[in-house]
Amino acid sequence: MKKNAYNFDVLIIGSGAAGLTLALNIAQQFKVAVLSKGEITEGSTWHAQGGIAAVLDDEDTIDSHVQDTLAAGGGLCHRDTVEFTVRNSKEAIKWLIDIGVDFTKNQDSDDYHLTREGGHSHRRIIHSADATGRAVHSTLVDRARNTDDLSLFEHHVALDLITQPEPNGKRLRCAGAYVFNRARDQVEVFTAKAVVLATGGASKVYLYTSNPDGASGDGIAMAWRAGCRVANMEFNQFHPTCLYHPKAKSFLITEALRGEGAKLRLPNGEAFMHKFHERAELAPRDVVARAIDHEMKRVGSDYVHLDISHKPPEFINDHFPTVKEQCLQYGIDITKEPIPVVPAAHYTCGGVAVNLKGQTDLRNLYAIGEASFTGLHGANRMASNSLLECIVYAKSAADTIKASIDSIAPPTQPPEWDESRVTDSDEDVVISHNWDELRRFMWDYVGIVRTHKRLERATHRIKLLQKEINEYYSNYKVGNDLIELRNLAMVAELIIRSAVARKESRGLHYSLDYPKPANIAQDTVLVPMNHAAQKTIVHSD
Ligand code: FAD
Ligand code: SIN
Repeated sequence: MKKNAYNFDVLIIGSGAAGLTLALNIAQQFKVAVLSKGEITEGSTWHAQGGIAAVLDDEDTIDSHVQDTLAAGGGLCHRDTVEFTVRNSKEAIKWLIDIGVDFTKNQDSDDYHLTREGGHSHRRIIHSADATGRAVHSTLVDRARNTDDLSLFEHHVALDLITQPEPNGKRLRCAGAYVFNRARDQVEVFTAKAVVLATGGASKVYLYTSNPDGASGDGIAMAWRAGCRVANMEFNQFHPTCLYHPKAKSFLITEALRGEGAKLRLPNGEAFMHKFHERAELAPRDVVARAIDHEMKRVGSDYVHLDISHKPPEFINDHFPTVKEQCLQYGIDITKEPIPVVPAAHYTCGGVAVNLKGQTDLRNLYAIGEASFTGLHGANRMASNSLLECIVYAKSAADTIKASIDSIAPPTQPPEWDESRVTDSDEDVVISHNWDELRRFMWDYVGIVRTHKRLERATHRIKLLQKEINEYYSNYKVGNDLIELRNLAMVAELIIRSAVARKESRGLHYSLDYPKPANIAQDTVLVPMNHAAQKTIVHSD
């Protein structure tokens, strides 16, 4: 084995809820590596607030959760995926409790407290106060650090997948990844029999986002370049309520506030959500985000207010300690005054097309979590269904890998990364300029409300930017910012192409030129020129 080369049974790219759940479900049987491009806790999982949707209450039913998910998804959810996910929800939560996640209980009993969020017709969100992600992720990380045969590589950025012919020469398979080691400033080779993309979403493609910095769609871009189909990339969910404050970066105000009675109001105190939907503040997220966008433009305001100050301070302290604390740091006391909020890019509903086992079009390559497109979310993800999807699909992919890995021939050693024709960049300003430009035009032209003309402008801009970025990538040594920029540009192109293809308004894709939904609901599936020659079924009905 060469100095900069590693070999594992399974390589998992991403250490969020999806990646670590899969790792914990297969480690101790196989040699497993988990990569994260920064600290292990830097993904979206750590920041999740509201909770995890699951059928846990005796009064609730699987059918009700399924129906709510289908309704929020605007006719595009895959029923088999929804049923599969919801049916496995109880087991997923049980697993989390078994490994030690400390969910909030009712004050007067040993039962878990279930909160409510938009689109759900029952209380079914299990949570850990308003910091569910931290509770889940710290438990997963703790377990992972104490599991034999599980190697954690922090500050390691996968930059492209390695493909090679299968031993019988008939099809391509995934055999690992080229990985940039940030500490050593060098590209290393990781080979594995099975590779899993658990790289999270791509909301960083927008100027304003609730997501942490690494959400640059790396897995989606890598899978596309390796020949996998991606689907429904036009459905970018904007969370209605992120804190509006000049010094606050990406801080979300959980939807559970609205679940517990918080009202949205204009700066003059007038409530408005009842004018847009019968469920008012608890309408599906796309409706609430568009309503806020509409009202902000109508009254010429940079924000609206979210007000929970009518609730007793003890209730707010118990249920929303993180939001309260964070707002106080910006001088806002949520027990006494409303919170200024704006919508921001939050969740990537589309992604790498997979089946119920998490398998992509490329053999031995899996995608799970926010990077994947399972068909669960349709045109609009229902709140708190994503962490559920991470756990359920991680378990399903783990079972598939366990059953198949012994029959996979070890990969052959791929060529080392070739840096012979590149030099150190002396023009990093190109990277920062293009980052800003891309995220701004995506916000302005491909945001909450779209038009044909704006999408045309975006198409033009992305072509020019990609030319420049690709030239830069060919001539200079890679670094994390350049890797992310190249991926963001790739993902932006996929989003724009998908948005242009959708000649209707549905869920999160709203076009002023086509304001109505079409009669037939169809996924937007993009097929790469080098489509991996493997027959996979995106969903099985
Ligand atoms: P992430 O947790 O984002 O992890 C991605 C991992 O991939 C990271 O470890 C990252 O370092 C790694 N990675 C990425 N690219 C590379 C690369 N090139 N090389 C190596 N590693 C890489 N959902 C809910 O269901 N309930 C909630 O209450 C909720 N609240 C949310 C609140 C906020 C503020 C945010 C941002 C999201 C929230 N969501 C919630 C959504 C949910 O948190 C995410 O969809 C989910 O955590 C995604 O998990 P993941 O494992 O797919 O990815
Ligand atoms: C929130 O707490 O509002 C986020 C929930 C989610 O994104 O599912």
